[in-house]
Amino acid sequence: MCHNPSTIAIAPIDADDIDTLLNLYVELFHHREPLTACIGLRRARLSEIVRLLYAESISYPPLQQQWWLARDRADNQRAVGFVVGDDPALVTDQALPDNLTVDEQAIFAEVMALLAEVRRPLADQLSAAGTYLHIAAIGVHPQYEGLGIATRLLQAAVADATARGFRYAFAECTSLTSRRLHEKCGFKHLHRVAVTDWAQDKLKQCTVCIDLMQKLLEN
Ligand SMILES: CC(C)(COP(=O)(O)OP(=O)(O)OC[C@H]1O[C@@H](n2cnc3c(N)ncnc32)[C@H](O)[C@@H]1OP(=O)(O)O)[C@@H](O)C(=O)NCCC(=O)NCCS
Repeated sequence: MCHNPSTIAIAPIDADDIDTLLNLYVELFHHREPLTACIGLRRARLSEIVRLLYAESISYPPLQQQWWLARDRADNQRAVGFVVGDDPALVTDQALPDNLTVDEQAIFAEVMALLAEVRRPLADQLSAAGTYLHIAAIGVHPQYEGLGIATRLLQAAVADATARGFRYAFAECTSLTSRRLHEKCGFKHLHRVAVTDWAQDKLKQCTVCIDLMQKLLEN
């Protein structure tokens, strides 16, 4: 079926949309986002863990304002894309859920250390609240890819952060498509980590390269 970009509306989420957004996140990331695929959880378990990880953010309104959904007005307001942003100065204490298995703890600890390595060039600058918008996740349903929806979601999140006085946006891109998307929206390449070069244990077989991208926001 051919979808029409003109029927897609982009809007910040409200509290009623959170479940829709997290369901879409799991649906789009489980097999298709390269680092999530390396983690290799069953879909139901990924869904539980995503809910536990985001539980803190969900109850925190300033972060919700940086989460956006794309809906198709021509298909009963179906949710077809999302972007999740955060302010890293406000989420530094994000803890792992405490009911993880030993194996899950090991892989998530490795993923968190990996993402810290990717962010290393910015590490000293991320503690000032209201300065950096972090694009934590962006996804578009495969039936709607290539229509410019991710571009519009990213532009909406960036424009909103700019209007609220943020100075920079950054993202960790795990595929060439994602890197091109960010370049198209004005992000510049800062740093690359090849996971196989860096991994200690659980991620040894993961062939993903992660690119740190940054954009200067100008009012
Ligand atoms: C990455 C993703 C969000 C792109 O969504 P999308 O709505 O199709 O993206 P857009 O249509 O706005 O395209 C933006 C740019 O990305 C690039 N792009 C899109 N599809 C591409 C493809 N199949 N191959 C290479 N580049 C591609 C192009 O540069 C495109 O701009 P252009 O069409 O002007 O050339 C989507 O593919 C997705 O959800 N992937 C799985 C989840 C994921 O990996 N998210 C990123 C995590 S870091």
